[in-house]
Amino acid sequence: MNISMKLNTRKITAILLLSITSIFSSFAEEGMLIPSLIGAFEDDMKAMGMKLSAEDIYSVNNSSLKDAILHFGGGCTAELVSSQGLLLTNHHCGYSQIQSHSSLENNYLKNGFWAKNRSEELKNLGLTASRIVRIQDVTLAVLEGTKGLSQSSKLLKMQENIVILIDDAMRGNGYSADIKAFNYGNDFYMIVKETFDDVRLVGTPPNSIGKFGGDTDNWVWPRHTGDFSVFRVYANANNQPAGISDDNVPYKPLHFLPVSVKNRVPGEFTMIYGFPGSTEQHLTSENLRYIIDQERPARISMRDKSLSVINAGMRSSDLIRIQYSSKQARIANGWKKWIGQIGGLKTVNAIQIKLDREKKYNDMAATKTEWQETYGSVIKEMNELVTQYKDVDFGYSMAIEYLYVGPEVFKQARNLNLFLVNFNKFEKNGTLDAEIEKQIKGAKGFFKNYNADIDKEIFILLTEEYVKQVGDGPLPERLKNTSAQDLADKIFKKSILTDEARFVKFMNKLKAKSIKKLQKKDLGFILWADANDKFRSEILPGIRTYKGAMNQLLKTYVKGRMVMFPEEKMWPDANSTMRITYGKLEGSAPIDGMAYTEHTTLKGIIAKNNSDNPDYELLPRMRELAKKKDYGSYAQDGELWVCFTGSNHTTGGNSGSPVIDAEGNLMGLNFDRTWESTMSDYMFDASRCRNIAVDIRYVLWVMDRYSGAKHLVDEMVLVK
Ligand code: ARG
Ligand code: ASP
Repeated sequence: MNISMKLNTRKITAILLLSITSIFSSFAEEGMLIPSLIGAFEDDMKAMGMKLSAEDIYSVNNSSLKDAILHFGGGCTAELVSSQGLLLTNHHCGYSQIQSHSSLENNYLKNGFWAKNRSEELKNLGLTASRIVRIQDVTLAVLEGTKGLSQSSKLLKMQENIVILIDDAMRGNGYSADIKAFNYGNDFYMIVKETFDDVRLVGTPPNSIGKFGGDTDNWVWPRHTGDFSVFRVYANANNQPAGISDDNVPYKPLHFLPVSVKNRVPGEFTMIYGFPGSTEQHLTSENLRYIIDQERPARISMRDKSLSVINAGMRSSDLIRIQYSSKQARIANGWKKWIGQIGGLKTVNAIQIKLDREKKYNDMAATKTEWQETYGSVIKEMNELVTQYKDVDFGYSMAIEYLYVGPEVFKQARNLNLFLVNFNKFEKNGTLDAEIEKQIKGAKGFFKNYNADIDKEIFILLTEEYVKQVGDGPLPERLKNTSAQDLADKIFKKSILTDEARFVKFMNKLKAKSIKKLQKKDLGFILWADANDKFRSEILPGIRTYKGAMNQLLKTYVKGRMVMFPEEKMWPDANSTMRITYGKLEGSAPIDGMAYTEHTTLKGIIAKNNSDNPDYELLPRMRELAKKKDYGSYAQDGELWVCFTGSNHTTGGNSGSPVIDAEGNLMGLNFDRTWESTMSDYMFDASRCRNIAVDIRYVLWVMDRYSGAKHLVDEMVLVK
């Protein structure tokens, strides 16, 4: 009998329970954990209801859950769900593939696509899916022989060690290996992976399901998006990765996820396995202040401008809608997330929270001379560094928005330049004609999705905004002296970058002389080259110094947290490596007086469709089926669940990640976070932060009832 049972007054028990659950939940949900270390959390996970062992989740010697989880296209997550290599990910993760197979005649965006058999599955050049073979702590091996060396010799030696380790890991097995720094270089892990290059599109629902809610609902709860698409991994006859080929056969996975059609119970255990891209949990108060007050608002205003043009264009024509839907989604996604982040960080008063944490850290350091020496000034130094490099960082962010996210004429210039710098080489080794052919083919792809009028307007608005934001920063002379309108008039009338016919003509007559002429006369190319020069010579070196110095300080800071607060649950910031996060199926109450339930249903789709918002458009079939209430075995208490939320700590890259139940079955596909929780990249708040998933039962229903693709459901193993 423990003490709390003896002190059995109601009040004390209630207080104890409260404090236990709050400690518990703040421990349980934050963090993106390294799969090979999951053993340390097994007890905690089991206490939350998990029935699996650490070895079921991650094992090097036996097949385990990890073998079903693939890194999809390098930026998303996907999971294997059949013995025949069937792979699920989000609709928005497969979007560029779906889009590239779409045309006005075969409009898969609008109508969806379902391969009726293997031979109709669509090949995707350049799309990969990677399985993690093993994750191995190689910190000691990387640091071997570096003791006592100067910083620069130490880096060299580490580099040498890394090359040898990677070589060893890759020898004779067809795998690739990579060594990544974790915790800002306090730890190093080797990640060995097997990459499949033949990944085919099997099916997708129409946009009216896969993208239901569009930008209106993006990053928002309540949500009703059927954000999934279906692919299949192909391998050679030996079940090994192989280039795209008709000889390939469906891959036979080491493990695939069974699919749960059981009733869900709020509070039940959920786990997410995937490839989160990046988080910045350790930013200092000053850094956060700069992001909230200056950097994010400026980036948002750049995107306000481009989106205003693209959105109007997409409303005006079906062709433009197809051409720009993928690009628009990309720009709008970051834009809206940032707006949510700023709002959330302000609401919780994140800067004050950071200041309090900084004080706690410094106070702790002050308790021991040795700590004071090593960690006592690191926060101050980080804050000072932020102030010192604010302008550099801002110039960098703006240049990214202008040159890389902004007008597409710059993208064309960048591609062309990449080719031109190799011109002599191509000429010498006799590959010039073939390379020119490639350029022309590439340009065809580019111009298929390009509208010069739209790009011209974007160019004008963004150039004006860029000049306004950067002011007397690193701007090319021309941008200071000529109006954006003037520049645009000339570029869009004459440049080879903004017109397919001009570009092809240039390529077909390409000589060394014509390159000279381009560099002297083509204003589009000249302007890009000037801006690019400024970027490389004045912005990049500064940003490298800044990031390098900050990483060094962060390394010390994080080490200090490990040393001085050993009882805290620590996790390394996301870095696109495989991670696990666990929590539970639950709603939230992020706003005073408002509570979000943990799931939505088909009814809500119809209710949203009843409004006039085009983001809630449906094809007639959905209303017909909803009216019949024909939910089959996919319903729970007479309703069809569409999406649900959980308290799992996720970020970009976790899209497509499986939400896995206590027994290792697939409950749904993660695809987003709620508006109030987008701040979790900087600060996870267990009471606000929720991930959003599409329920796998809705996915199955869409395949089976909506799309007539029951054969795919039959390929999976359903757990009732
Ligand atoms: N916000 C989600 C993520 O970051 C989904 C984005 C796709 N949906 C959209 N409407 N753009 O990827
Ligand atoms: N939608 C994100 C993704 O694409 C997930 C997130 O940021 O929550 O990975």
